[in-house]
Amino acid sequence: MRIGILGSGDVARTLAAGLLRHGHEVLLGTRNPVRLRDWLKAHARSSAGSFADAARFGDVVLLAVRGSVANKALRLAGTSHLLNKVVVDACNPIADQAPVNGVLRFFTGLDDSLMERLQKEFSVVRFVKAFNSVGHAQMVNPDLPGGPPSMFICGNDADAKRTVSGLVAQLGWQAEDMGGVEAARAIEPLCMLWCIPLLRGEGSGHAFKMLRA
Ligand SMILES: NC(=O)c1ccc[n+]([C@@H]2O[C@H](COP(=O)([O-])OP(=O)(O)OC[C@H]3O[C@@H](n4cnc5c(N)ncnc54)[C@H](OP(=O)(O)O)[C@@H]3O)[C@@H](O)[C@H]2O)c1
Repeated sequence: MRIGILGSGDVARTLAAGLLRHGHEVLLGTRNPVRLRDWLKAHARSSAGSFADAARFGDVVLLAVRGSVANKALRLAGTSHLLNKVVVDACNPIADQAPVNGVLRFFTGLDDSLMERLQKEFSVVRFVKAFNSVGHAQMVNPDLPGGPPSMFICGNDADAKRTVSGLVAQLGWQAEDMGGVEAARAIEPLCMLWCIPLLRGEGSGHAFKMLRA
């Protein structure tokens, strides 16, 4: 698949490298493609351009920018380039304020989520939440005791979730579909939970797993 990535940070680069390893082509979109020059040299079949270039390029688009500017990045990408496309939303609504005793602050409340806000503003896009509930170090083919961990996903479009579940499986996760876009209210805060051990100095070698009887 051709995957357009909106972002140039740790998540964008980590997922881009993982997707390349599984045979996909990637184009990373950023306001400053020059910054990716060395990264591109080290990764064959990758390229960089503007947010709009990435949105145009992708059969599937991955959104991996600071949560507070996710809508700005999507506007720069251009709605016309995102029409009906699957957008994998890895973003979290992390507020600027410092964490309290290892607990991050969010700019959304419990009856709201970043992905719902994005789905409302960009109604032509098929958003699927994924990859937000694990640190980038564990994002690609994690090798943890107990087998593949769970990747909680949600979104309103069943076909889009099937596509994303396939990518999630390639990257070493079991997708757990939690339903429509409102489930982002529960999935986004998993980032807070995941970050507590990290922020308390216990490292990043952990992930969630759903166990069923
Ligand atoms: N880091 C992790 O381990 C991790 C894990 C799971 C989920 N997440 C979530 O994934 C997202 C990406 O995280 P990250 O750590 O890779 O990177 P980040 O530092 O949160 O975001 C970097 C990206 O945000 C873009 N950006 C910043 N200000 C912007 C603006 N005013 N307009 C447009 N774009 C702007 C940057 O664009 P330019 O390229 O143009 O500078 C860059 O691509 C975040 O929402 C984060 O909460 C992170």
